[in-house]
Amino acid sequence: MPEMLTGSDFIWKDQTDLLWGALSSGGAFLVVLDPRGRPNPMTIGWGQIGIVWSRPAFTVLVRQNRYTYECLRAAESFTVSVPAPGALKDALLLCGTKSGRGLDKFHAAGLTPAPARLVKTPIVAECAAHYECRALAHPLVAMDDITAADVIDRFSYVAGNTHAVFFGEILATYTTPAVAR
Ligand SMILES: Cc1cc2nc3c(=O)[nH]c(=O)nc-3n(C[C@H](O)[C@H](O)[C@H](O)COP(=O)(O)O)c2cc1C
Repeated sequence: MPEMLTGSDFIWKDQTDLLWGALSSGGAFLVVLDPRGRPNPMTIGWGQIGIVWSRPAFTVLVRQNRYTYECLRAAESFTVSVPAPGALKDALLLCGTKSGRGLDKFHAAGLTPAPARLVKTPIVAECAAHYECRALAHPLVAMDDITAADVIDRFSYVAGNTHAVFFGEILATYTTPAVAR
């Protein structure tokens, strides 16, 4: 059984490299339960881990038109599952281009929701590293708050469709062996 890391320094352990590699290439899976209790995986390329409010935290940026945004606003927890380097490319593409509003993306992408250890939201079984997070806060980035004009242009920001920043307290992080697909 892989060691589950807890304690003040656990977020800086080995899987930080895995996370950084994934976010800067094909992405990782952000999972949240929808209002019916169905898990929805969304591909993310933006995310940070660090210390916020004196606790280890994972922050993700989710645009307001995503189904995930609606779900996260009401959620008590979320998870982030990180593929092994170069793995799950098709699933990342599907979960990053299709909405879960009318589609079971776990099923469509051939992914398996597996129970998390400390939160209700499942993890993605086929992934190599996982973060389990308790929702803390979700401030919106208002248009007036964006001081760099190039950011507004590059991301085609308009009022009402900027990103929100979701802060989660990392309750657990661990690696799991690869699951055959
Ligand atoms: C590689 C990649 C990275 C992405 N990163 C983000 C992200 O960090 N934040 C975000 O809001 N959308 C991101 N997206 C777009 C969403 O994954 C995409 O709009 C998705 O279909 C939304 O699904 P949902 O409607 O089920 O929430 C990314 C897409 C890809 C392909």
